[in-house]
Amino acid sequence: MSDPVIKCENVYKIFGANAQKMLQDSNGNVDAKTFQDNGCIVGVNNASFEVSKGEMLVVMGLSGSGKSTLLRCISRLTDATGGKIFIEGQDLLQLNNKDLIDLRRNKMGMVFQSFALLPHKTVVENIAFPLQIKGVKTEESISKAMDMVKLVGLDGRENYFPRELSGGQQQRVGIARSLAVEPDIWFLDEPFSALDPLIRKEMQDEFLRLQEKLQKTIMFITHDFDEALKLADRIAIMKDGIIEQLDTPANIVLNPATEYVRKFTEEVPREKVLLIEDVMDKSKDNLGDLKVSKDEIIENVAEKILTQEKSVAVVDSNNEIIGSINPTKIINTVFGGRKNNN
Ligand SMILES: Nc1ncnc2c1ncn2[C@@H]1O[C@H](COP(=O)(O)OP(=O)(O)OP(=O)(O)O)[C@@H](O)[C@H]1O
Ligand SMILES: [Mg+2]
Repeated sequence: MSDPVIKCENVYKIFGANAQKMLQDSNGNVDAKTFQDNGCIVGVNNASFEVSKGEMLVVMGLSGSGKSTLLRCISRLTDATGGKIFIEGQDLLQLNNKDLIDLRRNKMGMVFQSFALLPHKTVVENIAFPLQIKGVKTEESISKAMDMVKLVGLDGRENYFPRELSGGQQQRVGIARSLAVEPDIWFLDEPFSALDPLIRKEMQDEFLRLQEKLQKTIMFITHDFDEALKLADRIAIMKDGIIEQLDTPANIVLNPATEYVRKFTEEVPREKVLLIEDVMDKSKDNLGDLKVSKDEIIENVAEKILTQEKSVAVVDSNNEIIGSINPTKIINTVFGGRKNNN
């Protein structure tokens, strides 16, 4: 595997006058309650993980769990209190101001939870602005910005000012603005949270389509577990500043690491999330004639498998048999997991 694009080693962000000293004294063993009693708030508690090129890591957790703070540390909008952060191997905390501005302008794109639009510029001017900062000519930047306006469904509104738009529309301007620059590394903080369910679903689909094509390295924040499952290559689940589990959607649903994580997975329709590969057996004995691909979502082939008497062969992309699945396994997966958890 190639080197990670983003790498965090024991990152802490603690707010409060004594934060630095308390972190040092704690030897990295940060107890949120003790810190709070001493006037410090723990935002991020000992986060270590990597994101590889083209991967989408979704950070999930309830309000106040530290998602935005983690993202702000990695984009260095705030300085971590402790730990190391590397972007493409560069030590982020060692960069001087100029290098940091270069990195932000040319490599990183950000969509903020709070929109952060320029109030005196129109929709299309807001979107074109970062391109102009990069030196793109006005005409070209406006034409590119208009493409983005169409992409996020705001044509006809391009000459409006932010105050004349709804929250969801402002959010779409924020998304369009950061997309226009085509950054390699993309940080999105709850970009779809102000959208109606229907538009939200459309934006998710559009986003997946774009990512398939562009293969950016993405950290995406949401507090919606379904959104996380739909979009993520891997999910990091945060609670009180701690990453409780970081794993693929399938592994999180099948093997939740903590009680807190399990609660999120409880209502998940497993057949919509898991692939045949996630639940198949290695055995290749006693197979019937039917074959299914390891990459099928269970829901799409469940009915076919349930009508078989023998085990069904599971094949890879070369049509080689790599395992098997039987009707009982399908039933257990769909119903068993949830029943056991009650
Ligand atoms: N500048 C700050 N000063 C003090 N405490 C802060 C600051 N910013 C964040 N916090 C605290 O850090 C914790 C994590 O906040 P953060 O904004 O990262 O949560 P979040 O997971 O993004 O929540 P939400 O889903 O509501 O956006 C919270 O307890 C918050 O009050
Ligand atoms: Mg937040």
